[in-house]
Amino acid sequence: MSAKPIALQHLPADLDKERLPDHVAVIMDGNGRWAKGRSLPRVMGHQKGVDTLKDLLRCCRDWGIPALTAYAFSTENWGRPIEEVQFLMTLFERVLRKELSDMMKEDVCIRFIGNLSSLPPSLQEEIFRSMKDTEKNTGIQFTVATNYGGREEITHACKSIAAKVQQGLLKVEEINELTIDDHLYTKGLPSPDLLIRTSGEMRLSNFLLWQLAYAEIYVTPTLWPDFDRSQFHQALISYQSRERRFGKL
Ligand code: FPP
Repeated sequence: MSAKPIALQHLPADLDKERLPDHVAVIMDGNGRWAKGRSLPRVMGHQKGVDTLKDLLRCCRDWGIPALTAYAFSTENWGRPIEEVQFLMTLFERVLRKELSDMMKEDVCIRFIGNLSSLPPSLQEEIFRSMKDTEKNTGIQFTVATNYGGREEITHACKSIAAKVQQGLLKVEEINELTIDDHLYTKGLPSPDLLIRTSGEMRLSNFLLWQLAYAEIYVTPTLWPDFDRSQFHQALISYQSRERRFGKL
């Protein structure tokens, strides 16, 4: 993370600090199109996307938003060309190794969610190291969904709950929504209040299917590498202009 001065360092005056989301989730879409538009290889879009994510994380911390979750790699992304998948795995590993000391300095607690056991072993090592080293940090909760799929997560939770019932540790009548919450990869994390998706697609793409039940959704045509603090500002203005009713009148 560089130390260069950043525009919109502080919370813009037209945002109400009492009504900020506690948790923002992002679907970082449009990296490939961003690169294509510049006649660059697709992977350069992912490379640039890392800088965007780093600044958004820092922005959330600067503006007082305590949790950010980013969709880095879905269970479906294995279907991309092998070179792109390998680039992404190496990129995650390199970024984690490079950023760990800054995450410590900036008090970031990082957590990975998803089916981590099928990731390359060297990446798993960096993931577990970064989670362990930052687990006591309290500045901001940063969650990275990697080899993540909402349906896979719910299936995994159902299996864990069923196993507990089978072992006599839990009764069927005791199962409620909190039981499900407690068996998801996101256990302990509040549900996102705001989901941002870049590049104009109006889909959830299997992201946090349970947790996004009451989230406000903000879709922008901006491609992920171009999503900056002023774009985030616009997303928060839109969020604060909405009336959240949670199904009530
Ligand atoms: C979607 O754009 C983006 C991805 C599948 C990868 C996003 C990953 C990063 C930005 C790196 C994050 C790094 C860490 C360490 C968390 P796309 O390729 O689908 O774009 P397109 O729709 O234009 O083709």
